[in-house]
Amino acid sequence: MIVAANWKMNPELSVAAKLASDYCATSFAGVTRILFAPHPYLVPVGVRLEGSGILLGGQDCHPSASGAHTGDVSTGMLHDCGASVVLLGHSERRADHGETSELVAAKAVQAFSSSLSVMICVGETLAEREAGNARVTVLEQLAISVPSTLPTTALTIAYEPVWAIGTGKVATAVEIAEMHLGIRGWLDEAGFNQTKILYGGSVKPGNAAEIFAVPHVDGALVGGASLIAADFDGICAAAAD
Ligand code: PGA
Repeated sequence: MIVAANWKMNPELSVAAKLASDYCATSFAGVTRILFAPHPYLVPVGVRLEGSGILLGGQDCHPSASGAHTGDVSTGMLHDCGASVVLLGHSERRADHGETSELVAAKAVQAFSSSLSVMICVGETLAEREAGNARVTVLEQLAISVPSTLPTTALTIAYEPVWAIGTGKVATAVEIAEMHLGIRGWLDEAGFNQTKILYGGSVKPGNAAEIFAVPHVDGALVGGASLIAADFDGICAAAAD
């Protein structure tokens, strides 16, 4: 199981340092933890994670190796700062920055060339679900976002229904099961048979066990609840059970 914390644009540095140290106070058998920290915090947070086995990740990268791209961060920089993985195509980046699946694929190729593994996010909006297009939307995002050249062990997929992110609404077990089965089928067909599929969207200690019991759910991508160490631990404990 993988449980990944996505801190997004939170919290302030003093809180981040304490939170990272608190994560290290626990360990969970059979659970790989990943922390996607804000870029300026990669080094100070990474120092606190040393020896804990918790993997450090960036929340985005540029598709080019280097160059005149003011404000952007390269995959080499992430790697140099201790990251071993990068989160790509989160719905907030797709919405806030107009990121396309084509761009996500280019970033994934660049990330792998810097020895980073990638976690690619996919998920439908409420309008797409209500129109009956959830599955086709997600499969199309996969088909375009995932480069065929990526090794299966360097790829993780996070299925996050956009309407469940930060809203307190969670997809039902049936909805999660249907989508994860569809994603599993696509991945196996495309040769990504060792790629894990995480669920994301308002995962909390109180609903984690039910979500982890759904077939083809290999863990969770956690936003809000990852900012409280006890809540993140609770989700990791559910994954360990
Ligand atoms: P949430 O965020 O847990 O706050 O819903 C999940 C995510 O966006 O990765």
